Amino acid sequence: MKQNTNDELQGDKSKKLDKSNKKHSFKSGDELKLKVERLSQGGGKGICRTDDGVVVFVPLVVPEDEIKVKLTKVKKRYAEAELLEVIKPSKHRVEPPCAFFNDCGGCQWQMVSYQEQLNQKSKFLTHEFSRLGFKEGIQVEPSDNEYRYRNRIQVHQKKNKLGFLKAKTHSLVSIKDCLIAEEELVAQFPELIKAEKERRLEIAKDESGEIHIYEGGKRPADLNLFSQVNSKQNEKLKTYLIKLIKDLKPEEVFDLYCGEGNITFPVNSLFKEVKITGVELSKVSVKKAKEKADEENTEITFLAKDVLKFLKETNKSPELIILDPPRDGAGEAVIQEIKRLKPKNIVYVSCDLATLTRDLSVLTNEMYDIKSVQGLDMFPQTYHLETVVKLSLKS
Ligand SMILES: C[S@@+](CC[C@H](N)C(=O)[O-])C[C@H]1O[C@@H](n2cnc3c(N)ncnc32)[C@H](O)[C@@H]1O
Repeated sequence: MKQNTNDELQGDKSKKLDKSNKKHSFKSGDELKLKVERLSQGGGKGICRTDDGVVVFVPLVVPEDEIKVKLTKVKKRYAEAELLEVIKPSKHRVEPPCAFFNDCGGCQWQMVSYQEQLNQKSKFLTHEFSRLGFKEGIQVEPSDNEYRYRNRIQVHQKKNKLGFLKAKTHSLVSIKDCLIAEEELVAQFPELIKAEKERRLEIAKDESGEIHIYEGGKRPADLNLFSQVNSKQNEKLKTYLIKLIKDLKPEEVFDLYCGEGNITFPVNSLFKEVKITGVELSKVSVKKAKEKADEENTEITFLAKDVLKFLKETNKSPELIILDPPRDGAGEAVIQEIKRLKPKNIVYVSCDLATLTRDLSVLTNEMYDIKSVQGLDMFPQTYHLETVVKLSLKS
């Protein structure tokens, strides 16, 4: 939260308060009337500002709501508060359809109209990328399904109750349905509770539509695979990525953090005669990718390796490097190795805007120009966002 809070406060009027060493006199428990300006990209809370410039973060509010809040935590530069009352609802406020929304914590934005969710995400991108020198407005491709889009969920079971653990506590929020999960996943609930066990479960639908249930909260070690949670948006992601690179004429491509080859296979179909190397830490994912390549009779090199180790051991400079790291991003060491190899083009796919822009700030400083940025809403009703960025070596 600290990093995100600092990000949200960047360029904010409240900094002026700090510089002048003027102290505010707010304390925990104070009640205030505020108006919500926008939503925060690191947690999805509403951002409000007091008359003397102190930023106040409030969960479960909508931009343009007029609200009454109670301060719960007060710092020098910002405060956190809980919502007491919506005095005048925003035109973007909608009724959350899920009966468990307030308690569950899995979604943060069900009370925000879908159009406004997209608008906020587009603002996150436009703001963050303008700080990297990319001045265009950036759009977010909507999800076809605002609800019922997740192809896997994790739930907890206590005897004949299934649900999610309440944020920061261990108490079970018992649910009968999860509106962001595909219906076939929820249809498993009645059978599962018959076992009356205490356990964590993952319910997942694979590409062929088959349902798998894994006990213990995550898949067994030999099944610890990554897959995109929103199948339809994943198709759009791949279509968009192919459009971005279709005019390149590479002799070699690296697909870093390739998982089971979700991106590698379509790239291979596009560049049939090109040498493509997929690099992925998970041996099981690489095994699956290799099996698929054999089935399809295609020549792709899949390596079960740490990306940093792979990059350090090569001196090749492929025309194109694609990278799709986990939420933590690629990190400084990987980015420095990519800079050493000087690929002409880079496509960075990310599910975390903070780590994406951190990594890009190292690339764009001297060597690369940002050519295009596209947001994809993989995770409606939450503040999470998928982004695809294309960079080219400065000429
Ligand atoms: C966001 S997923 C992307 C997977 C794939 N591109 C896709 O679209 O399904 C990130 C992948 O990076 C892998 N990974 C994490 N750390 C890694 C590392 N240091 N070296 C190589 N792969 C890593 C994870 O196992 C995971 O499969």
